[in-house]
Amino acid sequence: MSNGIFITFEGPDGAGKSTIIDLVANQLHDALLTREPGGIEIAEQIRKVILDKENTLMDPRTEALLYAAARRQHLIEKVKPALAAGRIVLCDRFVDSSLAYQGHARGLGMDEVFTINQFAIENLMPELTIYFDIEPEVGLKRINKNKDREINRLDLEDLAFHQKVREGYEILMNRFPDRMKRVDASGSIEEVLKRTLQIVEEKLAEK
Ligand code: TMP
Repeated sequence: MSNGIFITFEGPDGAGKSTIIDLVANQLHDALLTREPGGIEIAEQIRKVILDKENTLMDPRTEALLYAAARRQHLIEKVKPALAAGRIVLCDRFVDSSLAYQGHARGLGMDEVFTINQFAIENLMPELTIYFDIEPEVGLKRINKNKDREINRLDLEDLAFHQKVREGYEILMNRFPDRMKRVDASGSIEEVLKRTLQIVEEKLAEK
């Protein structure tokens, strides 16, 4: 059994998630910051295949399976050992991304995508998930403004796709109200950080 705490961060592209998670990690003692897909060598290699703009032929089910494969390896190599060592694990995206993007936006079905993920995660779900909520139009604008960010295959999807992603997250928010907490990501970094830290600290205080 783990003594640590597993916290995940979710949201559409351009919500400012990564910036905020970095700042949250700096404020917490001994937190492990990691991301999906990636976080360890094998999963970073799978990430390259999934997000490569040249891979236009990728079938949605292949995409879902690759995310689940990367997730599995990352959990085994990095997340589980850190939790067993009692650490706070902050993960930029997890299974909810697959449910919102592949399950809902790609139309594979959330339950179907959860089933293949269950094979990968074996019931290991986060204790807390912070959902950074932003209008897809605003998120996409932020992506295009951020010149340092490399545009990936999923960024190339149209606005309708990103609207579906948000719809998917809304479904998840309704389904898991205890685990998932919404943060309005349209505000300033300071505001979003303050709200995020408040939620994380409340959760840590429960432990
Ligand atoms: P990132 O830009 O947050 O690193 O994530 C890479 C892209 O992968 C992003 O567009 C969201 C997408 N994604 C999925 O579609 N399904 C998943 O399971 C994960 C983890 C990410």
